[in-house]
Amino acid sequence: MKVEAIPAVQGNYLLHNYEETAANFDWSDIEKEFSWFETGKLNMAYEAIDRHADSDRKNKVALYYKDQNRSESYTFYEMKRMTNRAANLLKAHSNLEKGDRIFIFMPRSPELYFLMFGALKMGLIVGPLFEAFMEGAIYDRLDDSDAKAIITTPDLLPRVPHDRLPHLKTVFLVGDNIEEDNKIIDVHKYLHSSSDQFDIEWLDKEDGLVLHYTSGSTGKPKGVLHAQYAMVQQYQTAKWVLDLNEQDIYWCTADPGWVTGTAYGVFAPWLTGTTTVILGGRFSPEGWYKAIEDFGVTVWYSAPTAFRMLMGAGDALVKEFNLSTLRHVLSVGEPLNPEVVRWGMQVFKKRIHDTWWMTETGAHMICNYPSMTIKPGSMGKPVPGITAAIVDDQGKELPPNQMGNLAIKKGWPSMMRQIWNNPSKYESYFMNDEWYVSGDSAYMDEEGYFWFQGRVDDVIMTSGERVGPFEVESTLLEHPAVAEAGVIGKPDPVRGEVIKAFVALNEGYEPSEELIQDIQQFVKKGLAAHAAPREIEFKDKLPKTRSGKIMRRVLKAWELDLPTGDLSTMED
Ligand code: PRX
Repeated sequence: MKVEAIPAVQGNYLLHNYEETAANFDWSDIEKEFSWFETGKLNMAYEAIDRHADSDRKNKVALYYKDQNRSESYTFYEMKRMTNRAANLLKAHSNLEKGDRIFIFMPRSPELYFLMFGALKMGLIVGPLFEAFMEGAIYDRLDDSDAKAIITTPDLLPRVPHDRLPHLKTVFLVGDNIEEDNKIIDVHKYLHSSSDQFDIEWLDKEDGLVLHYTSGSTGKPKGVLHAQYAMVQQYQTAKWVLDLNEQDIYWCTADPGWVTGTAYGVFAPWLTGTTTVILGGRFSPEGWYKAIEDFGVTVWYSAPTAFRMLMGAGDALVKEFNLSTLRHVLSVGEPLNPEVVRWGMQVFKKRIHDTWWMTETGAHMICNYPSMTIKPGSMGKPVPGITAAIVDDQGKELPPNQMGNLAIKKGWPSMMRQIWNNPSKYESYFMNDEWYVSGDSAYMDEEGYFWFQGRVDDVIMTSGERVGPFEVESTLLEHPAVAEAGVIGKPDPVRGEVIKAFVALNEGYEPSEELIQDIQQFVKKGLAAHAAPREIEFKDKLPKTRSGKIMRRVLKAWELDLPTGDLSTMED
């Protein structure tokens, strides 16, 4: 459905003239805004927390935290003290040193953020893990990065295979009645008694910050390493895209296990000294609207699946809450349907601003800005300082309205710096040493707006989460009944895509509803609930190339009743 363009909003926005700014902007101008401009020695935790604690923002609330059991708030000064305590605790009870990898695998809570920023103060590289991950997913990530420590809870501990991870020397446990041993450290026992003074480890711009594992269409998940310098772009996009200013109460709904939850959950808002809301627990439409009302949220960053679920909960519900504080609403992670944008205008009387970026890009790339007309269905225009283009498979730029590879000119501040342990994978992202190729296909219209078309590869986006078919297929193959498995994303009106598996069974197994459930449980337990196929279809045999690769393209064509295309490489 075509939805009319929505004109720019009148107001005092931080990016008030997109065209003029885009024409004149240079990232190095932003370095002046940081405390390290002269020395070049920096630390994300200092810029995000201590700098404000040492200023007249000292008693400003940095964090509002709420879940079923807790409702707490911490000022920047309190955050400084708690993160210092956390840093002292981590240092005293481990042999961790600058550059070592520490993972965080726990539900959202204030302690998660104390420990995350405490680890950053020590100069560690933090690897956030989504709390739904199961043993297989945890093992792959800790093993690949030779992680020395993990922070987790007693509930999640059984999923951490520490006996199989020789580098993992310390497990920090956040919970009650913890029995310590030579590996396990009770966080609560030391957190409040540790000193609230800590000497921050000063780092270079290119030193590591976070390591986010993400999925591609082949191979195991890959570790995307970001550098401290990413803060330059996270800070500036907090202003231009999130439009954060001193009075805002900001809420980003993403989990810290994903890049949105770090870059825009805490880094970007705190770099700009903005009050941030973190809501623990599960999604519920009532709970979410109530959070906006209770905290007086002004800037709200969420995702299409969540908006579609809210839409499904009905407009009457919206009227039961006072959402009048909302000023600016944004979305990320999957295509934002024009219908959702129109619904946003109806119920919130607000434009929903789509933003496009990826784990690998570290910060916003293509966005809609308050001072710009929104064309519903378009991701918007490149952030000033970013050059985006549509290129063909040789890296040649294509004219407007032609579909091709969405590419970004190499060298923006928050660009990933490494794929951990895998330099050739890293290189494979770049074309002609000029373009970073995203793996998305898109086109640009005559006015410079970008329009998302789909993934070029087989990566699945389900409820805004990126799932690699290879990881799911590998887990399926570990099930005794499964001989062959091919996994695709199947379009779904709420979740964007759902995971569908085609499975050929081993001798002696018969298709049944019970077997479907058993296989689903198997993937849930081995990998993660969100990676388990919602649908399983049994086939005698799967389409394969002569070299034995499952042809997902053919599976997808079967599923969607489309022509199967060139089958010349398929085995007989
Ligand atoms: O396919 C694009 C989709 O999400 C992919 C990146 O996933 P991930 O690294 O998990 O990061 C998600 C949040 C930063 C992209 O390659 N994607 C992201 N934003 C959009 C999108 N697809 C359409 N529209 C968007 N705004």
